[in-house]
Amino acid sequence: MGEVMSTEQAQAEADTVAVTVRESIAWVKFNRPEKRNSMSPGLNRQMMRVLDELEYRADVGVLVLTGEGLAWSAGMDLKEYFRETEAQGLAAVRRAQREAYGWWRRLRWYQKPTIAMVNGWCFGGAYGPLFACDLAFAAEEAQFGLSEINWGILPGGGASKVVRELLNFRRAMYHALTGESIDGRTAAQWGLVNEALPLEKLEARVTSVAKTLLKKNPVALKAAKDAIRRVGEMTYDNAEDYLVRAQEAANFFDNEGRKEGIHQFIDEKSFKPGLGAYDKSRRQTDQV
Ligand code: COA
Repeated sequence: MGEVMSTEQAQAEADTVAVTVRESIAWVKFNRPEKRNSMSPGLNRQMMRVLDELEYRADVGVLVLTGEGLAWSAGMDLKEYFRETEAQGLAAVRRAQREAYGWWRRLRWYQKPTIAMVNGWCFGGAYGPLFACDLAFAAEEAQFGLSEINWGILPGGGASKVVRELLNFRRAMYHALTGESIDGRTAAQWGLVNEALPLEKLEARVTSVAKTLLKKNPVALKAAKDAIRRVGEMTYDNAEDYLVRAQEAANFFDNEGRKEGIHQFIDEKSFKPGLGAYDKSRRQTDQV
């Protein structure tokens, strides 16, 4: 049941996300800096379009999610996502939830590896896309908070689950109940992000990590990122079995990559897997 949008509305919605592709890295930006990149229904719809468009592009190997201006994202848009949809009734609320949760879920299982580059404020609902990204690097100056309790709701939209996944119980509970923010450095100590760096060094570090990923076999990257997410809720035996099947399934898409890797190490002695990736440019079958 889509509503008809005017050209101006469609353009405004498209402008909520900015995309640049450079050297196989897709830089995707929350682009509502004047609203601290809070997630409106329009932004959520546009993110899904952007993710769709980029997912299988041959010129994209890694996706970086970052924010324009002072914020990474100040969470859900309290006016457009909560107040205005609630005023329209339950169907509108459910639709807005589907749109938000939908692109986060797409990102969690994205074909390409993903990196959150947290340049500034990161609150509440923004923990959904933060967790959806495989890796996360933050500015030391960034501020993270489950601010929901400060305006009278529980940390929903997956945010409570995210902190239980990434933080220990006491920290998760303190974070949720006090609504106190932590800076990027503490976020790294707590495991909410991989590393914190001064803001002016953030992009260079993320670019360097992205370039490391670009050297790896893309089929193996997708299999590995899914495995790390899936095994978290499996018993050891189930995980062992899943990993056998997952590798066999990966072989269906790329049966030559690991053979080439073994060949370059054992026969050619041209690289050492303990020290870096094999040269995947020497084969034709890597792409999916
Ligand atoms: N929803 C809707 N609007 C938001 C918003 C949000 N989550 N976060 C910021 N904005 C809007 C403000 O209403 C303001 O709009 P206006 O210029 O039309 O008045 C604009 O963005 C700038 O915000 P402001 O508060 O003036 O910026 P700041 O830099 O001083 O503070 C924050 C930044 C992030 C600390 C503050 O905006 C904030 O607390 N936002 C809410 C965070 C939150 O609780 N998110 C969880 C939602 S689940």
